[in-house]
Amino acid sequence: MTKFVLALSLVAASVFSPAWAQTADAERGARLAYTCLGCHGIPNYKNAYPNYRVPKLRGQHPEYLLIALQAYRSGERSHATMHANASSWSEQDLVDMTAFLAGPVVAAAATPKPVGKAPDAAATCVACHGTDGVGITPQYPTLAGQHADYLERALTDYKKGGRKNAIMAGFAAQLSAQDIKALAAYYSAQRPGLATSLRPTPKK
Ligand code: HEC
Ligand code: HEC
Repeated sequence: MTKFVLALSLVAASVFSPAWAQTADAERGARLAYTCLGCHGIPNYKNAYPNYRVPKLRGQHPEYLLIALQAYRSGERSHATMHANASSWSEQDLVDMTAFLAGPVVAAAATPKPVGKAPDAAATCVACHGTDGVGITPQYPTLAGQHADYLERALTDYKKGGRKNAIMAGFAAQLSAQDIKALAAYYSAQRPGLATSLRPTPKK
């Protein structure tokens, strides 16, 4: 099953072209993303019900961020606020905003030195999320440094159906609540890692 899923996801990955870099206008994105920073630009800002911290976006793959926004828009991911935030913009707006919010992407270390001992349940995850939590393709999210409570929430949503991503549903289904806690803590501790998006610096 793992091999099949991997093949499937690589096909999906090739649909996105390097044209990305040429069409994204991060400067325009900085102007558009003002409201996004009301949550994503404040360190440790929390989602109200249930209570968990909003994800860090800085250092994330912008391609992945766009895929995530498309999932909130289509309802593949259920979250009322993010559905509204993802639905009121054109595709180009989202491309520009994700380029700005992500900033410089966290790169995998040449020789990863994982922080702490990986839980046994991480054995399958490394194929896509790397040994140090850096997604191995631009479509696979980086988990390194992400808030542990957000990672826990995301994995629970894949398991229980709040997120319907076909790849992650299969992997999350095999995890116990205890595995999820251990995996979230492990990936959250990895460095270099994600950070809170910065406010744009005013032009001099
Ligand atoms: C009211 C607070 C709030 C605002 C405003 C907001 N977000 Fe979010 N965002 C969240 C929360 C909470 C989540 C996690 C939802 C979940 O559990 O799936 C999230 C998730 C995301 C994700 C997915 C990250 C990942 O790792 O998968 C992206 C991308 C994102 N937001 C981009 C944006 C953009 C772009 C805007 C502005 C157009 C925006 N957000 C505005 C609270 C907010
Ligand atoms: C075959 C590749 C693959 C494997 C193996 C895999 N993942 Fe994922 N993972 C993905 C993809 C693709 C996504 C994005 C799904 C989406 O769009 O919601 C993702 C999303 C996630 C997210 C959500 C990140 C965010 O910012 O919201 C978490 C957490 C996660 N994976 C953890 C894991 C863990 C833990 C394992 C091992 C038990 C694992 N993954 C195994 C490909 C994989």
